[in-house]
Amino acid sequence: MDAWAAFDRRYRHCDHGTMRVTRLLALDDAPRLAQLLRANRDFMAPWEPTRDEDYYTAQGQLAVVRSALDAHQQGACLPQVVLDDSGQVIGRVNLNTIVRGPFQSCSLGYWLNQADNGRGIATAAVRETVRIAFDELGLHRVEAGTLVPNIRSQRVLERNGFVRFGLAPAYLNIAGKWQDHIMYQVINDKLA
Ligand SMILES: CC(C)(COP(=O)(O)OP(=O)(O)OC[C@H]1O[C@@H](n2cnc3c(N)ncnc32)[C@H](O)[C@@H]1OP(=O)(O)O)[C@@H](O)C(=O)NCCC(=O)NCCS
Repeated sequence: MDAWAAFDRRYRHCDHGTMRVTRLLALDDAPRLAQLLRANRDFMAPWEPTRDEDYYTAQGQLAVVRSALDAHQQGACLPQVVLDDSGQVIGRVNLNTIVRGPFQSCSLGYWLNQADNGRGIATAAVRETVRIAFDELGLHRVEAGTLVPNIRSQRVLERNGFVRFGLAPAYLNIAGKWQDHIMYQVINDKLA
C-alpha cells in the first residue's frame, strides 16, 4: 500500500465523535451539495467562478465529486466536506493542486452555507485541513488567494496563521471577470 492509500485508510476511519469538522468527500454527498449550492447561489456569486446550470444539479455535483475523487486517487488534491455538530454537510474545504518535489505545496479553497456563517466553523475546518496538509501529507506550504473585498475569508486565513505575501493581478476569473487576488501562505515550520 502506498503512503497516500495508507493515509486514506486512517482518514476514512476517523470518528466524527472526536470533534472533526471535516471528512473526505463521498459520492453520496452529491445531492446535499447540489441543494446547498442552489440555496447559496446568490451568497456565493461574488466570490465564485461563473458556473453552468448543470453545476447546481445532483447529477452535475456527482460529476464534480467523481472528478475530485479521481484527482484525489492520483494524489493531486484532498477534497473534503465541512460538517456541523450533527454530522450534516454544510460546506466544502479542499486542498487543490498538490505539487510534490521541491515545492511540497498546495492551494486551499473553501465555502460554507450562509446560515452557518459566523460560528467559527470555517476557521475550525481550515485549521483541521492545514493540520492534515502538514502532519498527514507532509506538505511544506499551503497557499490561498482571496478577492480584495473578501474580508470574511481573509479573517479565516489570518486566524489560522496565514500571512499575506502579495497581490496577484488578474489572478482568477471570478464572477465573470479576471480579478486581482490577495495571496496568503502558511509554512510548515516543523519541516527542515
Ligand atoms: C468565507 C467564509 C467561509 C467565512 O465564513 P465565516 O462564517 O465568516 O467564518 P467562520 O466560520 O470562521 O466564522 C467567523 C465568525 O464567527 C465568529 N465566531 C464565533 N465563534 C467562533 C470561534 N469559536 N472561532 C472563530 N470565530 C468564531 C467570529 O467572531 C466571526 O464573526 P465575525 O465575522 O462577525 O467577526 C464564508 O463567508 C463563505 O463561504 N463565503 C462565500 C465563499 C467564499 O468567499 N469562499 C472563500 C473564497 S477565498
